Amino acid sequence: MKNSLIIALDFSNKTDVVRFLEPFQDEKLFVKVGMELFFQEGPDILSFLKGKGHQIFLDLKLHDIPNTVYRAMKGLASIGCDLVNVHAAGGTDMMKAALEGLEEGTLAGQTRPYCIAVTQLTSTSEEQMQKEQLIKVPLEDSVLNYASLAKEAGLDGIVCSVFESRKIQEVLGADFLTVCPGIRQSTLSVQDQKRVATPKIALANDVSAIVVGRPITQAENPVDAYRLILNEWSGVKA
Ligand code: C5P
Repeated sequence: MKNSLIIALDFSNKTDVVRFLEPFQDEKLFVKVGMELFFQEGPDILSFLKGKGHQIFLDLKLHDIPNTVYRAMKGLASIGCDLVNVHAAGGTDMMKAALEGLEEGTLAGQTRPYCIAVTQLTSTSEEQMQKEQLIKVPLEDSVLNYASLAKEAGLDGIVCSVFESRKIQEVLGADFLTVCPGIRQSTLSVQDQKRVATPKIALANDVSAIVVGRPITQAENPVDAYRLILNEWSGVKA
């Protein structure tokens, strides 16, 4: 899990996924399946990707009552995901239930999927959080609070920005996974991400794993883009 480069498969159907993966040939990748693809293709897309030997981050951000999350996670673990996530706002009981479901659903001889928490969505501004969620502290404090609750519940880490990673690991330990999107080859190319970092900056900030979507999926040559980012992320000089 540590040092992984996770490719966000932000496609709406299997045909596009197959077309994207084809030039990677037999290379084993770590891919992220989000709501768009999962809700179109269902669990079959996970079996398909597993069958090709890829590791899967299933990014469904579960947030419901503990029993429902427990049962959903039990099912997901049996399909064989490697990493799943929940909203920390669901509370410590829900996060503990997620872990129990994952443990119970993991097939004999397999390892339990890692489970990480989403704290505040990056689309939420401090002003919005204070006004709509009535959380009257700075956004950074709320992120750290949710991260601490995730750790208390036994989760493996959180989704966060590269720039939050160090502080979180200082407080919660270097083993607490920080999985970071918002990666660009140049900090000048931001698209709709607000604060972006290069793979090199992510490496320097000791983040555990990076999630990269469009810089690879929309590149003219996705395999070349993947290799460039992977080399930089692995600390290999280009
Ligand atoms: O295309 P891009 O590299 O911006 O994709 C980043 C991926 O990470 C997308 O799948 C997006 O949904 C996801 N993500 C994010 N910010 C978060 C959590 C997830 O960009 N805070």
